[in-house]
Amino acid sequence: MKVFYFTATGNSLHVAKSIGGELYSIPQMLKEKRHVFEDEAIGFVFPCHGLGIPRLVIDFMQKSQFAAKYFFAVMTYGNKAAAGLNHLAKIGKNTGICFNYTNEILMIDNYLPLFKIEDQLTKEGSKNIDEQLERIVSDIFTKQTKITQKGIATTAVSRVIYKLFTKHNYDKGDKNFIIKDNCNGCKVCEKVCPKSNIEVEGKPGFLHKCDVCYACIHHCPQRAIHLKSERSSARFINQNVKLKEIIDANN
Ligand SMILES: Cc1cc2nc3c(=O)[nH]c(=O)nc-3n(C[C@H](O)[C@H](O)[C@H](O)COP(=O)(O)O)c2cc1C
Repeated sequence: MKVFYFTATGNSLHVAKSIGGELYSIPQMLKEKRHVFEDEAIGFVFPCHGLGIPRLVIDFMQKSQFAAKYFFAVMTYGNKAAAGLNHLAKIGKNTGICFNYTNEILMIDNYLPLFKIEDQLTKEGSKNIDEQLERIVSDIFTKQTKITQKGIATTAVSRVIYKLFTKHNYDKGDKNFIIKDNCNGCKVCEKVCPKSNIEVEGKPGFLHKCDVCYACIHHCPQRAIHLKSERSSARFINQNVKLKEIIDANN
């Protein structure tokens, strides 16, 4: 089994690791231009972004060829996944992937413009993440077939919000980032960026091809990178994932 993942703060990597099999980082596959894959089962794990699928994941699916008997996908999200998985089914259809199983898992929300991480962490217990994960891992292990689908109204709203989200954030989203004076040029931001969008020469410079995953902000050891409009300065990394794993996934 091959599992392709994209993660900024480790939630999706934690899920991918729990599912098991051979793990492949999507940003790495894109950078290495590796696009032909075959196995008895192939899966994708990634976060919900703007009620839809992150551009990087779509790009990878569109550029690649996959052969498998069983296709699955798990989308991690923090508050409302809405019709994100309908979006995935559509992309799958256009790229020749017919999913056998899709599911979503409610985890900590790392979206800094809307949520305070400290509030999110107090809700962690009530989200029953371990139980959700156990069910999903068991479903995949036993090759269950189940597609998560939302209704027409939810799908229509999700589509509109996703369009607005991508229009207002992709590429130029890094113009909303501020570097504080305590930045010591350690280059962690450069190393965790899945888009190679950051070059540190003394301080980080942004190249305006940003996918607004916020990995650079969450992983900055100095907490020196901020959003102009963030709800708090608290940051998040999934406790089951180490910074080195995020760096390795993007280099
Ligand atoms: C740019 C961005 C957009 C997001 N949009 C949504 C969303 O529409 N719905 C939601 O429930 N969570 C949303 N989130 C939260 C993430 O989906 C969630 O925290 C996810 O588990 C993070 O996964 P990761 O740690 O693997 O990056 C968003 C996060 C970011 C950074």
